[in-house]
Amino acid sequence: MDWGMKNRIAKLINPKDGHAVWLAVDHGYFLGPVSRLEDPAKTIKPLLPYTDALMLTRGVLRNCVDASIDTPVILRVSGGNSIVGPALSDEGIQTSLEEAIRLNASAVAISIYVGSEHEHQTLIALGELVNEAQRYGMPVLAVTAVGKELQKRDARYLGLCCRIAAELGAQMVKTYYCEDFAKVVKSCPVPLVIAGGPKLKTEMDALKLAHNAIEEGAGGVDMGRNIWQSDNAVGMMKAMRAIVHENASVKEAAKFLK
Ligand code: R5P
Repeated sequence: MDWGMKNRIAKLINPKDGHAVWLAVDHGYFLGPVSRLEDPAKTIKPLLPYTDALMLTRGVLRNCVDASIDTPVILRVSGGNSIVGPALSDEGIQTSLEEAIRLNASAVAISIYVGSEHEHQTLIALGELVNEAQRYGMPVLAVTAVGKELQKRDARYLGLCCRIAAELGAQMVKTYYCEDFAKVVKSCPVPLVIAGGPKLKTEMDALKLAHNAIEEGAGGVDMGRNIWQSDNAVGMMKAMRAIVHENASVKEAAKFLK
């Protein structure tokens, strides 16, 4: 791995513990003004001090985030779909690598939809993005998206998606936690971070999810709704950091919610 690539990854994943807490605020690219992210600047600002990186689109970055921040950016570059369109899997690259470099991104993110009608186009897009990104030392985060088919999230399917993403060259993969998650981790040769998915019933459920994922080998979390749809979003970030970076138990982490 070349120096630039290594340096970017070291900014995203703490080299001391190999772990990361990222904040995902990219949902608007297909969901529009999702609840509690209607005003991204307002949602993001108080959480910035607690995140190792910010995952978002160029539009939100340019318009809602102060350019003086030190927080690394994971720029979502795939899109072209919407929640009301015919197929969520119908994604392509919509932000160029040149833009990512111009915006000083530390990584670019793309969704792949394995097993969907658009599997081929999203996997080819991943390969092409890796080809181009490699030239500039830009890491690629592949997101194993399931669209509306949340029931797909089991170890067999996610193991397949994560392995394919790594085989096609992604340096990091974002997936979902599932039963037997350790198997998914074991068969994927690059770091895995987990999304939270739709908001769980309680904050404790989200903390347990993160704790289990870390225990089973995840490199970290890249959560959105379970953080900023909570009434105590800052507390959730602090609790996530305790679990991911300080080996805290769920009970210990929960203290940050009080
Ligand atoms: C998809 O909407 C995005 O890639 C999100 O960044 C990802 O799903 C993580 O957010 P959440 O924890 O809300 O699922």
